Amino acid sequence: MRLSRRRWMAAGLVGLAQAQTERPVRVAMLGVGNRGTSLMRTMLSQPGVDVPAVCDVNEERVSRAQELVAKTGRGKPEGYQRGPEDYRRLLDRTDLDAVIVATPWQWHTRMAVAAMKAGKYAGVEVPAALTVEECWELVDTSEKTGVPCMMLENVCYFRNVLMVLNLARQGVLGELLDAEAGYQHYLPDHQFTSTGDLTWRAVYAAERNGNQYPTHPIGPVAWWMNINRGDRFTYLNSMSSRSLGPHLHAERKFGKDHPAARRVFAQGDVNTTLIRTENGLTVTLYYNTQSPRPYDLILRLQGTQGIYSGTLDKIYLQGRSPKTKGGEPEWESTAPYFERYEHPLWTRLSKLAANSGHGGADYITLHEFLRAVRHKTQTPIDVYDSATWSVIVPLTQQSVAARGAPTDFPDFTRGRWRTAKPLAVE
Ligand SMILES: NC(=O)c1ccc[n+]([C@@H]2O[C@H](COP(=O)([O-])OP(=O)(O)OC[C@H]3O[C@@H](n4cnc5c(N)ncnc54)[C@H](O)[C@@H]3O)[C@@H](O)[C@H]2O)c1
Repeated sequence: MRLSRRRWMAAGLVGLAQAQTERPVRVAMLGVGNRGTSLMRTMLSQPGVDVPAVCDVNEERVSRAQELVAKTGRGKPEGYQRGPEDYRRLLDRTDLDAVIVATPWQWHTRMAVAAMKAGKYAGVEVPAALTVEECWELVDTSEKTGVPCMMLENVCYFRNVLMVLNLARQGVLGELLDAEAGYQHYLPDHQFTSTGDLTWRAVYAAERNGNQYPTHPIGPVAWWMNINRGDRFTYLNSMSSRSLGPHLHAERKFGKDHPAARRVFAQGDVNTTLIRTENGLTVTLYYNTQSPRPYDLILRLQGTQGIYSGTLDKIYLQGRSPKTKGGEPEWESTAPYFERYEHPLWTRLSKLAANSGHGGADYITLHEFLRAVRHKTQTPIDVYDSATWSVIVPLTQQSVAARGAPTDFPDFTRGRWRTAKPLAVE
């Protein structure tokens, strides 16, 4: 399981694959609510995977997960449901290669850290950590134990994200300059339970103000810009608008006099963050789950030769794309670019992935995590990526509280970003 420290940063998937073991990889689930169950179903649709144990504080969910596994012809997994610390008993098992953590946010780091200490690969849902200290704890534990930790950032495996990675790597967009991205997903039902209490997610929105969920949009941008592998995020500035969405939603849903309608939320409805990299690239990052709007991750990348826009699903390349009669640049369909620059992972896996969540990206994310577990190699999203993308949660809170003041990113790689090679995504 151990990788030497020297190889740690450089370890991609190429050339590191060891002889494939014959036995299936054995993965336990920590948290089998909505996301955990969906991930487990997707994992069970892949060959060479066993799920010997499942853990959740909710007994019904444990039983449902046990039945789901048994229905696939695999043995019924052992259930761990004796309270919030029972995952520790599960981690004592010696028949596990990895765990997947899909619990509420406050559990992510401590479960991942305990898993690594127990010698099990940690696949963690997003964000992997909530504080700067937690981010360092993940990094320190992974380095000390030699066990990889991968935040399961599925947007990195979206078809358009990987096609654009190819465009960026092949220099088609020229030198990269700037990206715009955002988690803009109206989620009023994530705020209150049916009786008007706060959900576990809304507890954070009630108390904190920043970008609570940055990793979906920043993961792809970090891959495109080779962050931690030749460049790094240096500092950010963050501001939030006022907070009205949860209040208005509670009034509509429960009535003006209900306690939910009087609850004060710290989280501003629209959070905007600017990030600058060491090599002088910039990123604008949005976060908005509180105001009515269609879903949009934006995912826009500007280079010296042109621009890709995920929202428009269009591209413009100087010297290739059409111009108006007046000579103005005109957007072009991305279809021919998908034909020419389709990522090999999509070419290979799209048929198998077709029925899984997020357009197939969930299948590919798990496939890549399991590939690393199976071959005992570094995970494609490593602990440094997991920490760097997650640390935006506390850094934006600090910056918002300080009137948008510049706030430095820790260098989790301890300088190794300078020499690390771009990630081989193959
Ligand atoms: N990558 C994605 O696209 C995506 C999508 C949805 C959710 N998520 C992430 O998945 C995670 C779970 O979200 P969800 O929507 O499934 O929430 P959920 O509330 O439906 O599920 C969480 C589960 O964890 C269990 N749990 C809580 N504390 C526990 C403990 N100490 N030990 C064992 N089990 C415990 C709960 O009983 C519940 O079943 C979150 O981190 C969320 O951000 C990611």
